[in-house]
Amino acid sequence: MKFRWLLTGMSGIVMLLYLAGPTLAASDRLSEQTLECLKCHDAMPGIVQQWENSAHWNAGVGCFECHQAQVGEPDAMDHYGFTVAIIVSPQDCAQCHPREAAEQEASHHAKAGDILNTKDGILGQTVGGESAVAVGCRQCHGSLVKVNKDGTLDASTWPNTGIGRVNPDGSKGACSACHTRHRFSKEQARQPETCGKCHLGPEHPQKEVYEESKHGILYRAFKDELNMDRPKWVAGEDYYDAPTCATCHMSAARGQEITHDVGDRLSWDLRAPVSQRTGDYERKLEKMQDVCSSCHGQSFVEGFYSQLSEFVLLYNEKFAVPAREIRSLLMKEGVISKADFDDRIDWIYWELWHHEGRRARHGAAMSGPDYAWWHGIYEVAKHFYTELLPETEEACEKAGRPELYEQIIAKFIDGRPEHEWYTKGFDPKRLDAMKTYYRERYQQDVQ
Ligand code: HEC
Ligand code: HEC
Ligand code: HEC
Ligand code: HEC
Ligand code: HEC
Ligand code: HEC
Ligand code: HEC
Ligand code: HEC
Repeated sequence: MKFRWLLTGMSGIVMLLYLAGPTLAASDRLSEQTLECLKCHDAMPGIVQQWENSAHWNAGVGCFECHQAQVGEPDAMDHYGFTVAIIVSPQDCAQCHPREAAEQEASHHAKAGDILNTKDGILGQTVGGESAVAVGCRQCHGSLVKVNKDGTLDASTWPNTGIGRVNPDGSKGACSACHTRHRFSKEQARQPETCGKCHLGPEHPQKEVYEESKHGILYRAFKDELNMDRPKWVAGEDYYDAPTCATCHMSAARGQEITHDVGDRLSWDLRAPVSQRTGDYERKLEKMQDVCSSCHGQSFVEGFYSQLSEFVLLYNEKFAVPAREIRSLLMKEGVISKADFDDRIDWIYWELWHHEGRRARHGAAMSGPDYAWWHGIYEVAKHFYTELLPETEEACEKAGRPELYEQIIAKFIDGRPEHEWYTKGFDPKRLDAMKTYYRERYQQDVQ
């Protein structure tokens, strides 16, 4: 009897300890200040619950630890006896995550807010308009966040989690662009949908390309077997079936750690009007190939890269360079004005490299054949032959300079076997010569 009572009593105590456990642990773990924040912020149940489901809650990192600010900081605000800031910038996260913040700062992502003086900037600001830029460009690229006198944020620049946001403390970027608050979950950041907020559409359709690639097909088929919720997520160790955007551009592989510099594995700049190798490209190429090697053999990967390089060179040499040179010649000769976007030629050239020219290269880089060809090089060729050249002829005639058009054709078209068909028609006798020419120029067999 006594013994049984003792047992029940002990399990009762254990039970009580167990029940008290989480509560005790939570208040132990959380700072006094955070407990104060929670008293009122229970009225924002979404935020509090997202945070309670996060690794931060588990580690005792609370509202105060992230939002605290020092009096005198540009966005410090007086808030019920506390000094807090709304924005938790990369510099704030850096207190505890210095490595991720430094890599992010060194990346192109952090520079994405510097778009004002580019051609796209002129297009957005002038042709579109200021408030279109606020809800468009800057939601992806980042705004320059302005602070009101009381420390709250100016509504024309906030809310904003653009990837290169310029923060009141001068730091650049928004960690919450990928790690949505307040869960800050790795599992969520590893999904392609995270990147797809920005990497989609007519001029950088990485999301669509990925979806049509075998990788995207496999991701959808085996998503549940990819162990995306594991603390460690190494291709070839923790999952095998499919890579996501993060796998190839950020996550760890057997030969390398996670990087927050998304350019660290890129050997080409595929968004410039004419593509160039990136600096230190051999090291970067090796890193990307190390990722592929978790799931593919070496000759497969090398074959893939050789197709990619030949395709990029073809785009550059056959279309992008001649189009660029024809347009600048027309400017130099005064046939069209030097300003961007005020002549039809400006728009044709712009779409040629910025829309279809990019789509083609992105399709080739990430195994999306429809983007490489139909949305890509097919449209490039169509623009080049049926719009850029006829418009050049018309502009020269209007300017009373028909001989200039003749010179352009002689230089860029008739002198080049890959373009000659345009003026001379398809000559079956010349087909073999053209095949040899292509093979030598792009080391590729043309059937
Ligand atoms: C006495 C109640 C109270 C306390 C204590 C309190 N808050 Fe708040 N907080 C509020 C209310 C109410 C709002 C919403 C105000 C509004 O709707 O603009 C708010 C808004 C905020 C905002 C958003 C401000 C904005 O303009 O978007 C942040 C960030 C914030 N609180 C953080 C904190 C942190 C961190 C703490 C603890 C250090 C804290 N709060 C403590 C009541 C409180
Ligand atoms: C790990 C850091 C972190 C923690 C912990 C954290 N926040 Fe935040 N909070 C952020 C970030 C980041 C943003 C978005 C601003 C930005 O992009 O810099 C934000 C935004 C906010 C906003 C304004 C946005 C909105 O949706 O209204 C409120 C309010 C807020 N936090 C309240 C809280 C409260 C309350 C807690 C505690 C339950 C908390 N935060 C804990 C990082 C944090
Ligand atoms: C006061 C220190 C502190 C601050 C400030 C802080 N963190 Fe953390 N963070 C931690 C700790 C501790 C962990 C848990 C580490 C672990 O579980 O290994 C963590 C974990 C994470 C994780 C991994 C979550 C997961 O799914 O495992 C992410 C992502 C993260 N933090 C992002 C951020 C971002 C973004 C900010 C700024 C908005 C931030 N942190 C601010 C301390 C902090
Ligand atoms: C849907 C999100 C989104 C919108 C809206 C958007 N961009 Fe972009 N932008 C991107 C992404 C993603 C890239 C990178 C593409 C790549 O690397 O292939 C990019 C690239 C650029 C680049 C090239 C940067 C470089 O380093 O070469 C410029 C300039 C630019 N955008 C300006 C603008 C302007 C100006 C607007 C508005 C008129 C705008 N963008 C609208 C997402 C967006
Ligand atoms: C472009 C999207 C993106 C941005 C922006 C981003 N992260 Fe991450 N982050 C990720 C991804 C994806 C992972 C998961 C990598 C993995 O383990 O597969 C991750 C993982 C992390 C981790 C866990 C690292 C580990 O070793 O487990 C921390 C901490 C973190 N990020 C902090 C930050 C901070 C701080 C910032 C801002 C300075 C930031 N992140 C900005 C995508 C991003
Ligand atoms: C909020 C918008 C946004 C999100 C989310 C985003 N990006 Fe980007 N990304 C951009 C913009 C804008 C650029 C172009 C920056 C520039 O050059 O100015 C870019 C550039 C890049 C580049 C080219 C970097 C270089 O050095 O040339 C890569 C690769 C990239 N992003 C991968 C990713 C991946 C992978 C994710 C998801 C884990 C992601 N991005 C999430 C907006 C975003
Ligand atoms: C199988 C690996 C793989 C996957 C999955 C993948 N990429 Fe890529 N990505 C590449 C390769 C390879 C390149 C070209 C590398 C080079 O330059 O050497 C590239 C290039 C890029 C670029 C640079 C484009 C430029 O303008 O220079 C961006 C941005 C990008 N990827 C974003 C994404 C996004 C977003 C996703 C997911 C929707 C994704 N990638 C999925 C391998 C991948
Ligand atoms: C996590 C594993 C994984 C990683 C990492 C990975 N792949 Fe794949 N990849 C696959 C699988 C599985 C297939 C489907 C094979 C098939 O077609 O049956 C595939 C298919 C492909 C295909 C299409 C082949 C075809 O026959 O249509 C290409 C091209 C490719 N991968 C290139 C790459 C490149 C380049 C990289 C690195 C930048 C890479 N992959 C990284 C798993 C991966």
